[in-house]
Amino acid sequence: MKQTNYDLVSAQLTALTDGVPYEVANLANASALLWQEMENINWVGFYKMTEGALVLGPFQGKPACIRIGVGRGVCGTAVAEDRVQLVYDVHDFPGHIACDSASNSEIVLPIHVNGAIWGVLDIDSPSIGRFTGADQTGLEAFVRVLEQVL
Ligand code: SME
Repeated sequence: MKQTNYDLVSAQLTALTDGVPYEVANLANASALLWQEMENINWVGFYKMTEGALVLGPFQGKPACIRIGVGRGVCGTAVAEDRVQLVYDVHDFPGHIACDSASNSEIVLPIHVNGAIWGVLDIDSPSIGRFTGADQTGLEAFVRVLEQVL
């Protein structure tokens, strides 16, 4: 599997979102960019905190769960703990929500705006152990770029 060049992907995101004031447009392009540049994934997208829960935003992949409570599943745990969740095998994660039965590993990163949790970036893979510390570091930089335009 080819490792993603996250420096390049973050530079592409900067160029795509520069001066663009439209949240949906930026999130749609961000998910499309990761979908294009990451191998061996089956879902990538955003959930945004809305009325106290995570609500589905722009994504690539199969249709997914619309609303996830804080503390529920991998996404809700990322919010409750305000911490990246790097899940080697989703079947070992208590309360994992299976939107796509093809998913076997997952990474979820909290996104912050003005010091508060705005929502999460969620990425699923059909392979157990797909995501590494290098992916986490690269995706944290990607999220920092996105946070500037949200
Ligand atoms: N698996 C996630 C739910 C979202 S889907 O993967 C798109 C979770 O447990 O929070």
